[in-house]
Amino acid sequence: MWGMRGRGKKKHRGVAQTRIPGEVTVAREAVERRWYSHIERESDLARLVTAHTNRSEPFHRWLVFKQAYSPELVRAFLDVATPAPPVLDPFSGTGTFITECARQNVPAIGVEPLASLGFVTRGKSITSFPPAPEVADDADWRTISASLTHPCHLVALMCAVASRLTGDGRVNKNARPLSDCFRDACAMLEEDVIQPLPRANLVVRGDARRLEFLPDESIGGVLTSPPYLSRHDYTRVTAAYEDVYACWRAIQDSHHSEHAGYHVDDSLDAPPMDSPAPLRRSHTQVPAHGRARGRLRTGALPETVVEAAETLELIDKGKMARVVRGYFSDMLGMLGECRRVLRTGSVCWMVIGGARLHDVYIPTDTILAEYATTIGFDVDRIVVARNLIPGGRKFGHLTKVAPRESVVVLRKQ
Ligand SMILES: C[S@@+](CC[C@H](N)C(=O)[O-])C[C@H]1O[C@@H](n2cnc3c(N)ncnc32)[C@H](O)[C@@H]1O
Repeated sequence: MWGMRGRGKKKHRGVAQTRIPGEVTVAREAVERRWYSHIERESDLARLVTAHTNRSEPFHRWLVFKQAYSPELVRAFLDVATPAPPVLDPFSGTGTFITECARQNVPAIGVEPLASLGFVTRGKSITSFPPAPEVADDADWRTISASLTHPCHLVALMCAVASRLTGDGRVNKNARPLSDCFRDACAMLEEDVIQPLPRANLVVRGDARRLEFLPDESIGGVLTSPPYLSRHDYTRVTAAYEDVYACWRAIQDSHHSEHAGYHVDDSLDAPPMDSPAPLRRSHTQVPAHGRARGRLRTGALPETVVEAAETLELIDKGKMARVVRGYFSDMLGMLGECRRVLRTGSVCWMVIGGARLHDVYIPTDTILAEYATTIGFDVDRIVVARNLIPGGRKFGHLTKVAPRESVVVLRKQ
């Protein structure tokens, strides 16, 4: 039962991957075998779990987040799962879920720790777009932000800033001047709000692991996509939005204190909450955990997670091993909270990505599905949308194993 691996290095898509001598794969092989019969593949789902189509839909096109799923997935969830409102996305991001629910007139709640993303999401509930101020052709974001007093215009500026960034948060060298992007963003927002959303859904600044503001059994369905375990740092992108938002807030707050009676219309702002600091992780974007406020008590980590973390330690990737442990500790906490707030019989669709970290394979979908059964969920389906790494490789006694991006469909018992 010991999966022996070859030695040396191999190249995968230009990245040197260390082969692990004598990697123990027993627990992960076993979890894969136990859930094998539940795993289905639906290639159509690949399009739905990404943000590819978001650019062509009103409101969703404002700020297209690489990690977002599509509004089509939200419509599929509402059609197939027919959840009784209110419904919840505890990892709201740019608010694809609550925005699409608002379009379909379904009451929904989103939770997001980043104030900037919550602000843009709330901005989608505006019913008119006031004329934007003129900006100089060579103006940078600080100058433009200092000239804006209406929150709608700040939303447009944040969309303009976002439109110029590459996937890793740098300004695209072919990007048009920010002033042009700002004018375009204002025109886009103005066009979309000609037909305002039929309802304003709620986005709360908070933490998916602590949904204290939601009573037990108060939610009729969850569709969510937590951050994926990854070696890449997606927070560089959101850091840019946070900077623009924080700069504008600081200016508005100083005006507010200098001029008594000056009223800043901050009605688009997320309600102030006692929530953990937004996430700034060096290697991966995962729910804030451990270091922030003490880890949640979720009991022992699954054997599969311990096995993967120990393998990483074996190859001197102790930091990544801690990330893996912390990630799953957070995910278990979040699943527990989802179960608590869901009504009996209600569904939770979770869009999840597996990982291969320094060649260590982590089947996030089956690990979480199995854990869910221990806390009172049934697993209806594990539907694989696509492999995150093309092709697979031998893993212990299994062949052609690749990290999957899946939708895990759970039902509260
Ligand atoms: C994969 S993205 C979700 C994208 C989203 N579906 C959308 O439409 O944009 C994950 C989001 O979870 C947020 N997040 C990270 N840690 C969180 C936590 N502890 N609680 C709630 N949200 C968190 C991140 O800021 C990020 O916006």
